[in-house]
Amino acid sequence: MAGTRRQSVFFAPPLSLFGPGVHERTAAQVKAVGGTRPFLCTDKGMVQAGISDHLTGILRKGLGTDVVVYDGVIPNPTDATAQEAVELFRREGCDVLVSLGGGSAHDCAKAVGILAAHGGTVDDYVGLDRVPGPIPPLVAVNTTAGTGSDVTRIAVLADPEKRAKRPIIDWKITPTAAVNDPVLMEGMPPALTAATGLDALTHAVEAYLSTSASPVSDALALEAVALIGRWLPKAYADGKNGAAREKMAYAQHLAGLAFNSAGLGYAHAMAHPLGGRYDLPHGVCNAVLLPHVLDFVLLAAWERLARLARVLGEAVEGLTERRAAERAVEAVRRLVRELGVPERLSSLGVRDQDVPELAREAQKDPSRWTSPRRASEAEVEALYRRAL
Ligand SMILES: [Fe+2]
Repeated sequence: MAGTRRQSVFFAPPLSLFGPGVHERTAAQVKAVGGTRPFLCTDKGMVQAGISDHLTGILRKGLGTDVVVYDGVIPNPTDATAQEAVELFRREGCDVLVSLGGGSAHDCAKAVGILAAHGGTVDDYVGLDRVPGPIPPLVAVNTTAGTGSDVTRIAVLADPEKRAKRPIIDWKITPTAAVNDPVLMEGMPPALTAATGLDALTHAVEAYLSTSASPVSDALALEAVALIGRWLPKAYADGKNGAAREKMAYAQHLAGLAFNSAGLGYAHAMAHPLGGRYDLPHGVCNAVLLPHVLDFVLLAAWERLARLARVLGEAVEGLTERRAAERAVEAVRRLVRELGVPERLSSLGVRDQDVPELAREAQKDPSRWTSPRRASEAEVEALYRRAL
């Protein structure tokens, strides 16, 4: 962070496409990376909404070849999901991946790519930089805004036996191209707009407060926070607001790029065990936890939080940095409330007796490595209880 002299690395996909209608260029991108037999990784919702057929048509026309469709992606995908998909990928002789959906579709496609190229199970690759070589090219077509998975070197897979979520972090699984077309995001219902948008906010805020933040990630994170503060309420209030959808498509991308290099913090470290144990939506868990986590890290990072208050449009003139930082937390809390996200984990079915186990899991999560304030297991338990 400021004042330190140290090395930093920045990770990003080679190509990103933005703007209304840009998904129609997906076939050209598949062709550009030498793909001849695409494997479309998506979910049943995309099939039912006709979006899967629509994209399949574009690919078929552009490439003059058949598309193999796997529509078995589930929220919080598992090793079993990836194994089922990779079997189809191999059987059909596919050579390029196209993921269509939100984080689950992209994460599943990354896992399919790893298994297709290197075999084994998801467990073999959990952790940092454990993928031994490249994976087939992956074009990630986003329909939410967003998990940032269209740009990241991260795939989070659920382990239903251990009731946990495990990240694979390796730059070699970064998508080759990210396609962010706001037109594909207009169909998101308000609750999904809120959950995914607040996930993006959590990415940007945690990346900005991270101990691995750099001037590159700061620039991305600050602009993402500004865009989300301004445009997420509008996208939530009116899903057909094209300008709001377009700005959120950029914002989630910026936030994804920021945390892809800078890392995250305790909101994510604590959200992952909740997703694994209760199968809860990732963005909702983050949204409930973020204000409490910010209360906790404020002591270690109030200068940076004060900057976030300004970026979020809070009137902070004449306030001390410390007071301005509190304003940032209040602004986040207000945004979560306005977007109709439940304020308490108990209303999502989280039980007090599970808190010790959740805290133990959170302490194993790599997202906590870059938190500006380290928490003991007892402090993590207390944070869960504050959010209960
Ligand atoms: Fe996230």
